[in-house]
Amino acid sequence: MAEISIVDIIRSKRDGETLTAEQCDTLAARVTDHSVSDAQVGAFLMAAYCRGMSVSESAALTRAMAASGWQADWGSFDLDGPTVDKHSTGGLGDIISFLLAPMLAACGAYVPMISGRSLEHTGGTVDKLESIPGYNPFPEPARFQQVVAREGLALVGQTAQMVPADQRLYSVRDQTATVSSLPLIAASILSKKVAEGLQALVIDLKVGSGAFMRSPSDGEPLRDMLKGVAEACGLNCSVLFTDMDQPLACCVGDGLEMREALAYLRGDRRTDRLHRVNLQLGTELLMACGISTSADEARERLQRALESGAAAERFQRMVVALDGPTDLLDSPDRHLELGPVQRPVPAQHAGRVNGVDGRLLGHAVHDAARLPGQHRFDHRVGFAELVELGQDVVQGEPLAVVHGRDEPETEQLVDCVTRAVTLSTENS
Ligand code: URA
Repeated sequence: MAEISIVDIIRSKRDGETLTAEQCDTLAARVTDHSVSDAQVGAFLMAAYCRGMSVSESAALTRAMAASGWQADWGSFDLDGPTVDKHSTGGLGDIISFLLAPMLAACGAYVPMISGRSLEHTGGTVDKLESIPGYNPFPEPARFQQVVAREGLALVGQTAQMVPADQRLYSVRDQTATVSSLPLIAASILSKKVAEGLQALVIDLKVGSGAFMRSPSDGEPLRDMLKGVAEACGLNCSVLFTDMDQPLACCVGDGLEMREALAYLRGDRRTDRLHRVNLQLGTELLMACGISTSADEARERLQRALESGAAAERFQRMVVALDGPTDLLDSPDRHLELGPVQRPVPAQHAGRVNGVDGRLLGHAVHDAARLPGQHRFDHRVGFAELVELGQDVVQGEPLAVVHGRDEPETEQLVDCVTRAVTLSTENS
């Protein structure tokens, strides 16, 4: 059979045609072996962004991307529980993966989580994991599986072996303003989940000013795309909408978010919104995989996993199994460095917080933390102690504490918080 040309694939998509499964296979294979240039990858992505893709086309791309590398087979591991995962469509201050994965493991599930780096203004699980000194988010597939089988969870990133097509497409999407395409989001998320070999998946579809989908009506087509593609790929998948009108945790920045996750697991601080979303996703998943038969029982089980310290212990064991420090949970200060310049941002006047511009905050941290010429970040940079929507503040009270690398950068971040947080003046 004649070889399918990459230029023909780009032309077909540019002209709004539906790609065949063979074309998707060729595309994923050639993205993976680098026999197509970044220019061609970018042209394809822009064509897909502008022309769209049907559910069956996105499913064909998903399967092709999943098959671009190693795919998990849990048959020989004799696991005594289901393989499950959660994935978010992209948010800010979203630390749920670090909380829910160990809680699920403590409830008897196995969580083989393959995640990505930051996309546009949203945070990346892999970047946050890299704030842990020594932690290896890129193990060989065999080691990844062993850690999951032994500890109940492993949180890692795409590699040249695991979903390599997504690794490259993900990075080019981030550079070509093509992130928020529904079929590309679906193929990116679900290719990783197909490769994980799951029995149940819950997708946290973020909707709001800080998300790719700004309103619930924007979110519905993505939900339908995700559910349709998952079904076509044989994945048992539910999709929940959660609010992203403000960061989920009260901080933004890799190291600060990791500290917040550890504080949550240890029981030092569990903010209401974060806890609610975490339990909602966990409840859905424990019922979908058959560990729990009712929502009440699922919630109790998850809560017990936290209160007993079992979830914290699971997280610590996973960190050690992937070369991180043995005392991360007990001594986060020893391992997670803070920004050298810290500055509270005082409220200019008293009032009630009526807006937190997540995009502005996310882009500011992304730009300030990015290391020159690299897709890597200074994990110390960010905002902590961020106020919440509806909170009353008095004049001079901190709206957040900025963690910067130097004086000029810190000043810029202070200015960004002042612009991002708006206060109503009624009753002030
Ligand atoms: N998470 C992913 O893995 N891919 C996306 O495109 C968005 C969120």
